[in-house]
Amino acid sequence: MCGIIGYKGKKHPKDILINGLKNLEYRGYDSAGVALKNDDTIQIIKSVGKISHLEEKLNNEKLIDCNLGIAHTRWATHGEPNESNAHPHRVGKITLVHNGIIENAGVLREQLQKEGVKFNSNTDTEVAAAIINKYYTGDMEKALNKAIKEIKGSYALAILCEDDDKLYAIRCESPLILGVGKDEYFVTSDIGAILKYTRDYVLLGENEIVVIDNKGYKITKDNKVVKREVLTSKLTNEATDLCGYDHYMMKEIMEEPVLVDNLANKYIHNLKKLPDIKKYQHIHIIGCGSAYYAGMVGKNLFEDAGVEVEIDVASEYRYRNIIYKPNTLVILISQSGETADTIAAMRKANEHADTLAIVNVDASTIARECTYKVLIEAGREVAVATTKAYLLQVLILSLLAYRLDPDGTYVEDLKKLPQQLKVLLDKTGFYKKLADAIYKHEDVFFIGRKVDYAISMEGSLKLKEVSYIHSDAYQAGELKHGTISLIKDGTIVFAIATDDDIRDKTISNLEEVISRGAYPIYVGNEDVAYDHKIIVPRINKKLQPILVVPALQMIAYFVALKRGCDIDKPKNLAKSVTVE
Ligand code: G6P
Repeated sequence: MCGIIGYKGKKHPKDILINGLKNLEYRGYDSAGVALKNDDTIQIIKSVGKISHLEEKLNNEKLIDCNLGIAHTRWATHGEPNESNAHPHRVGKITLVHNGIIENAGVLREQLQKEGVKFNSNTDTEVAAAIINKYYTGDMEKALNKAIKEIKGSYALAILCEDDDKLYAIRCESPLILGVGKDEYFVTSDIGAILKYTRDYVLLGENEIVVIDNKGYKITKDNKVVKREVLTSKLTNEATDLCGYDHYMMKEIMEEPVLVDNLANKYIHNLKKLPDIKKYQHIHIIGCGSAYYAGMVGKNLFEDAGVEVEIDVASEYRYRNIIYKPNTLVILISQSGETADTIAAMRKANEHADTLAIVNVDASTIARECTYKVLIEAGREVAVATTKAYLLQVLILSLLAYRLDPDGTYVEDLKKLPQQLKVLLDKTGFYKKLADAIYKHEDVFFIGRKVDYAISMEGSLKLKEVSYIHSDAYQAGELKHGTISLIKDGTIVFAIATDDDIRDKTISNLEEVISRGAYPIYVGNEDVAYDHKIIVPRINKKLQPILVVPALQMIAYFVALKRGCDIDKPKNLAKSVTVE
């Protein structure tokens, strides 16, 4: 994972790099560092923990005068999060930052050690620096071309060489873009890191090398110059403002009604703008984390529409022996479009079937490599725990299901949905009270059947990832095959029961746990005699999850707030998981 940024221009890089890192912090935040360079010195400053620690450190040091620098925020893969493992890493004349994983780092390390290289960290990144340094004999491009052939895995590197004042970068599988400003250039993992300075960027291709000097930039691959179009991002820097909210998670939940309205209006009378999935007889749905749970909602909706659906998490799908039948469509769901496992699953699927990307980031790998793409248009999502992107993924799946099986009340209900969602989200006092009842507990369960089980999975994930309360979701009928032994006096059990056909079954399962001491929280359309309940308006079945999950997102938020958790950056997580 990790986020990288490099700057070459006319300004001092400190503020640009720190601001960039703050925008990349969602990619990992266990340690961070910068390297600044002028003709005489390379100054490296690192710190453990959040970017704010690094910023403090930089404010207290005398920094060299310069206009070239690189920086990194880390999500540890090789070696624990400490200062020596933090990037940048320097070996000989080479200093670099890295996003990705060098898979043959172990073999290369041994080889280099035999050649006399001494390593100061446990990272694979230092090995990459050592390889480039080994091949550097005065010509950096030559060294990088040789190194690319030797380094296996996924990587995006921003590199400085002691002998010149250029900024170098290379990428293979990990995302990297070149930002083009006025007399200044950037390389970064994500355009969001540089939006304050420019919206113009170039997408770098696989194994391409970019060299930035005082005159401009040059992109090459296998020693041949590559011409690439300069694109302009539609994102604005405001997308990263908190706009008066205390946390991005709350800000992003509150954006849901407007975003749902916008996306619904775009497609509802223009369903033909969506890919025609009717021509496929089999659908596979793939994703990771919440994107997978959005897919689970989709599976239920498509199956109800009469289509055979297989679903799996990307990390399994990529290694399973998948039997591809003719007329199969593989749907890849990903907010970032850069999740490593989802990319691998997509590349496998691309060899056998048509693929459809449901993504947020237009310039992402998944958006570019699938047969079709539908953008969820969530804008930038900053909080690590996804909320609005999940909901819009579900909305697209719901619209696709409606295309397969148009039914009476859908359009009318979809028009009402944004307003109903707003009413649901406005009840903050209600969610706070519910959070009061939950926040001291250490175990919570969610139960549901069919689409309500899919909703349970997302509700449970949201709660555990932001509040650190252990939480699990079960198919309501399955609980008694073991897990029920964990129910004790006061254990909180959320029962999601919106599907009328099986609602009574779920209620019976809830009664089974209540009689063993569980404390119920009912979520459904019918008023019931339980003390704690979330009653949501009954709407078209294909839209119902969109009116339930936001309530669970609010509960997760307020429980985490009560517990004093770092809501936007939960420990050990990262928003975009670009390693396997
Ligand atoms: C991480 C994030 C989740 C997200 C998942 C998939 O685990 O913390 O919120 O659902 O990755 O990310 P993607 O960008 O592929 O949707």
